[in-house]
Amino acid sequence: MAKELFKGAVLLGPLPAVLVTTVDGSGKVNVFTVGWTGVACTRPPMVTIAVRKERVSYENIQATGEFVINLTTSEMLKMTDFCGCRSGRVVDKIKHFGMELDPGSEVNVPSLSVSPVALECKVRSVTELGTHDLFLAEIVCNKVDSRVIDKNGKFDLARVGLLAYCHGEYFSLSRRPLAGFGHSVAKKSTRRALHVKRFQGKKKNSKNEK
Ligand SMILES: Cc1cc2nc3c(=O)[nH]c(=O)nc-3n(C[C@H](O)[C@H](O)[C@H](O)COP(=O)(O)O)c2cc1C
Repeated sequence: MAKELFKGAVLLGPLPAVLVTTVDGSGKVNVFTVGWTGVACTRPPMVTIAVRKERVSYENIQATGEFVINLTTSEMLKMTDFCGCRSGRVVDKIKHFGMELDPGSEVNVPSLSVSPVALECKVRSVTELGTHDLFLAEIVCNKVDSRVIDKNGKFDLARVGLLAYCHGEYFSLSRRPLAGFGHSVAKKSTRRALHVKRFQGKKKNSKNEK
């Protein structure tokens, strides 16, 4: 395929569009949209978010060292876009959408009840990069809604239509997965079992670890 040079943009995608909840020094909750997020380590479980200094959320995270990543779904589309276009300085986004909150378990930051998966995070380091600072954080607690666990105990995110963000547009991951991790190298007889195991969060399977 012939490729043209395309300057000046980070063309990595799709990425999850997540809603990150934070609190300020007085306990007031804010929420903002983050596209620049990623997995950094399996053990300890670590993630990154890249945040501009001018965000209210930046001040909050710097003050408390904590935040919660809330995965988003297609039913949360409007909320996800709005929270990425309006600052907490001008509107109380929690009130605006009447968002229900669940208290944090390992952090003093609540999660969004409407979100199917909440990752409670504690900041381990902050790196100044340029436009954004990179927060490297440890996930100290995972919370998963029973809506995304099927009757076999399988992690089934397709049923909620997770939101992805790619070059300025939102997409819904509502289709069934194409295949499970390792299917290309698995023996025929174990392919099905591997597919099931891949989505079972509980059992430790070192072959599946990245
Ligand atoms: C899809 C999307 C992704 C975004 N990703 C980021 C991001 O990764 N980092 C960031 O600092 N701002 C990002 N933003 C912009 C902030 O969410 C936005 O400026 C927000 O209003 C900041 O809110 P706050 O001032 O209440 O913290 C994104 C916005 C959208 C719509």
